[in-house]
Amino acid sequence: MEELMEPVRTLIDFKKGVVNPDRIIERRASDMQGMYSDDLALEKLLSQDNPLIYQVREINIPKKSGHIIYSTTIIYPGKVGKEYFMTKGHFHTREDTAEIYFCLEGEGYLLMQTKQGKVSTIHMRPGVLGYIPPYWGHRTINTGKKEFIFLALFPGDAGHNYEVVEKHGFAQIMIEENGKPILKDNPKYTPVSG
Ligand code: PA5
Ligand code: NI
Repeated sequence: MEELMEPVRTLIDFKKGVVNPDRIIERRASDMQGMYSDDLALEKLLSQDNPLIYQVREINIPKKSGHIIYSTTIIYPGKVGKEYFMTKGHFHTREDTAEIYFCLEGEGYLLMQTKQGKVSTIHMRPGVLGYIPPYWGHRTINTGKKEFIFLALFPGDAGHNYEVVEKHGFAQIMIEENGKPILKDNPKYTPVSG
């Protein structure tokens, strides 16, 4: 039998995310190269103050089948050109694993895509739970004026695969037009074959 793990108590501040996380991951503009449609706009941001785009606050839970890992993500408000601040996005390494995103603060979109290029979105605001079924890659986008914060829960053995998104992009991007978020085809997207 596996060694018995002690229960864990985690405090979550709905306006800040996990209080006292074991790990904080920060992604700045410099970590997002090639991910936005407007490379020049990203370069400009880099030469200015290389802003923080998002932060993930994690608790150490074993990365093993049977466990449920959880973390909070804060995406700051802002844009790269016309495109809103967003996460890198990923598929799970074990593709047959699902995930839950529960919005705590702010607003934005959960953008999902299959490897075959099918796209789906869920508008997130406090109280909305987005269920990401197995096989859907996922990215979140802050379309609001303040921080967009959500809690993520996923199987311990899911894993994060960033390569597919880095190489092919998402089929659609979310940009601001006339003050409103709209989905547009991503000029940089290349279909995943096979
Ligand atoms: O596990 C998840 O899906 C989330 O916790 C994300 O990792 C988090 O929102 C950051 O996004 P990404 O991993 O795509 O950089
Ligand atoms: Ni995930």
